[in-house]
Amino acid sequence: MKTLYALLAATLAPPLVAAAEPWGDADPKNGKEHHDKACIACHVRYYGGDGSKMYTRDGRLLSTQLDVLQRVATCNSQVKAGWFPEEEAEVAAYLNQQYYRFKN
Ligand code: HEC
Repeated sequence: MKTLYALLAATLAPPLVAAAEPWGDADPKNGKEHHDKACIACHVRYYGGDGSKMYTRDGRLLSTQLDVLQRVATCNSQVKAGWFPEEEAEVAAYLNQQYYRFKN
């Protein structure tokens, strides 16, 4: 019986470690600030509105969390936003939370 309870507990208990995201525990709120400063204006020129259609359009380029992080890093260097890796992580966390919602 003891074994059965132990087994049940192990099956029902939520995993202790949540699936690790490539941006760790970076704060999406800070990410929004960096993003709104350095990135929105140009995306708005392409898509109008608040520019977010860049992330939600049909045929968008990204399909995993890692893609989001890598794309943010690439854009950071392309547009010379001057972000450190922590800031890239925050922006990726923000874009995924707000638009992409990739689970892995
Ligand atoms: C000078 C204009 C410009 C600036 C500034 C800019 N972007 Fe972009 N961004 C683009 C264009 C154009 C595309 C679409 C590229 C394509 O379709 O090949 C894009 C695409 C993206 C995508 C992928 C969208 C998809 O298809 O899912 C992400 C993410 C992104 N940008 C993030 C950023 C971030 C973060 C910044 C700020 C550091 C930034 N961009 C600044 C022009 C810009």
